[in-house]
Amino acid sequence: MAFSGLFLDELIRRNDIVDVVSQYVRLVKKSGNNLFGLCPFHSEKTPSFSVNTERQIYHCFGCGAGGGVINFIMEIENLTFADAVHFLARRVGMTVPDEAVSPEVRSRRARLLNLNRDAARFFYEALKSPDGAAAREYLARRGISPEVTTRFGLGYAPDSWSALCDAMIKSGYTARDLFEAGLVRRSGRASGGFYDTFRGRLMFPVIDVRGNVVGFSGRLLGDGEPKYLNSPDTPVFKKSMQLFGLNLAKKTKSGTILLVEGNIDVVKLHQAGFDGAVASLGTALTEEQVQLLKRYTKNVVIAYDNDAAGVKAAERALSLMENSDLRVRVLRLKGAKDPDEFIDKFGRDAFANLLDSVENHVEYRITTLLAQHTLETDEGRLAFLKAATEMLSRVSNAVEREIYAKRVAEISGVSADAVLTEVKKALRARMKANARRQEARERNVRAAIQPKSREIRYTNEISALAEEGVIRLLVLDCELFKVLEEYDFSESEFTSDYLRRIYDMIKLRYEENMEISPPLIANALDGAEAAHFTKFISKPESLSNAEAAMRDYIKKIRAAKAAAQATEDPEAALLRIVRDKSGCGGYEHGT
Ligand code: CTP
Ligand code: MN
Repeated sequence: MAFSGLFLDELIRRNDIVDVVSQYVRLVKKSGNNLFGLCPFHSEKTPSFSVNTERQIYHCFGCGAGGGVINFIMEIENLTFADAVHFLARRVGMTVPDEAVSPEVRSRRARLLNLNRDAARFFYEALKSPDGAAAREYLARRGISPEVTTRFGLGYAPDSWSALCDAMIKSGYTARDLFEAGLVRRSGRASGGFYDTFRGRLMFPVIDVRGNVVGFSGRLLGDGEPKYLNSPDTPVFKKSMQLFGLNLAKKTKSGTILLVEGNIDVVKLHQAGFDGAVASLGTALTEEQVQLLKRYTKNVVIAYDNDAAGVKAAERALSLMENSDLRVRVLRLKGAKDPDEFIDKFGRDAFANLLDSVENHVEYRITTLLAQHTLETDEGRLAFLKAATEMLSRVSNAVEREIYAKRVAEISGVSADAVLTEVKKALRARMKANARRQEARERNVRAAIQPKSREIRYTNEISALAEEGVIRLLVLDCELFKVLEEYDFSESEFTSDYLRRIYDMIKLRYEENMEISPPLIANALDGAEAAHFTKFISKPESLSNAEAAMRDYIKKIRAAKAAAQATEDPEAALLRIVRDKSGCGGYEHGT
């Protein structure tokens, strides 16, 4: 049951611990990076449960509970590690990758990887052969040395319909292997033949960080369409999860990864000594690629093409990386369209100088805004100021905010204080919007718990959910009353009259040694009540650790009660009143 580290990283990143915990605990007092609330795992009156927003962990100073977001869900939902992972994946709409890779799948993958490696060798040999003369000339024309050609394992796909296919079949691979690896395509003819995917192209093997050839990128030797052809997604290749050149760049001593657009840029930069260069294979940078980068570096310099598309792509990449703890800077090319052309025109030292003067992301944005606004007119300056303060309010580091507020003030000729005030205003507005969103999320969770029929209303949804659990367990196994006794659980702890009535019924039957079957109880309830009873009773519940589950429900009921009492601060009271006015029914979710 091993999940990949990459997947878990992403899962944890997307499930912010504050969001997750807030669905169970009302987090209030803030000190530094810590939010506090009443511990859901033991009963208490003053908050000793803390959540650290930066380290993404929780810890209770009262009972010692603690961990990350997965531990929290395991504890509070009483789930195994794997189930908690599934729970969190569902919460953010992620699909869980195949957990246990079967031996068949593994050997299939190994076979495809072998095939790719052999194909790369074939292309490499073809480049050296007489057939490869045109490709060798092309490389020379692009200024790519034989040494770096070998380092990248570049090759040539002969201009033939079946050169690769024939060679690989001779080596013992099947047409199916070739097809699955994306190296051949099915021809339209009824005979069901195949033809080589890559023909007459300069071949760039895509090599993953473990050194496997996972796919290919092939460039035409001249003009024509499509200029590049990439391997399709295969069992061993997902374009969005690879970075061309990372197998080499991960070893760079420079401490910086240079993110560029083109394969050719990568090769040329490595050749010029900038061995941290990688490219994203023609796709916009993805979350997965950012996660991958984070494993190898803390510094990223974006050096995209010097055209409108490149600027836009850089902007996208910046915002994608902004929330990671990567230090991202953007390089502005002058006088050339891409790093490859820049080095050809001005040499490697000029590029090194550019790298030294590279702007951090705030500087980059200020420069971009300056290019978009004229400071000659009052309107222009106002528009610039507005955009700049908005941008600055998104900078998470307060010191950076202050420094660049001063810079913006100087540029636009107003006082630094005025700029800072505006920044703070924008910041507050967004924090308020975030809080509102958070509140709405919480309301949605609660609304989803509410019975569909308006005849039954839960006043404390979190507690009611656990109360339902108590009843569900009792119906499954009435011996669990013992756990309730052990905890001195009293029926007065039910916050829902409806659920208490059901509980009373079950208890009575238990004490009189009568059968407790759901239909019997449902019969004693009216329509809507019976419907909801049947619904919550049939939610999955495992008897294998039923006692632990029962204890857990009791704890949740008590924690919810404590939380409800603790949140009677004016703000919470106001919220309650507002909610009461809308009859609590304004959020009908029907689940
Ligand atoms: N790309 C692609 N499909 C295309 C065009 C481009 O997948 N039809 C990808 C390739 O990975 C390419 C990258 O996008 O390397 C950047 O494109 P471009 O700048 O056009 O390519 P370069 O590698 O810079 O090639 P060249 O300098 O020869 O134009
Ligand atoms: Mn180029």
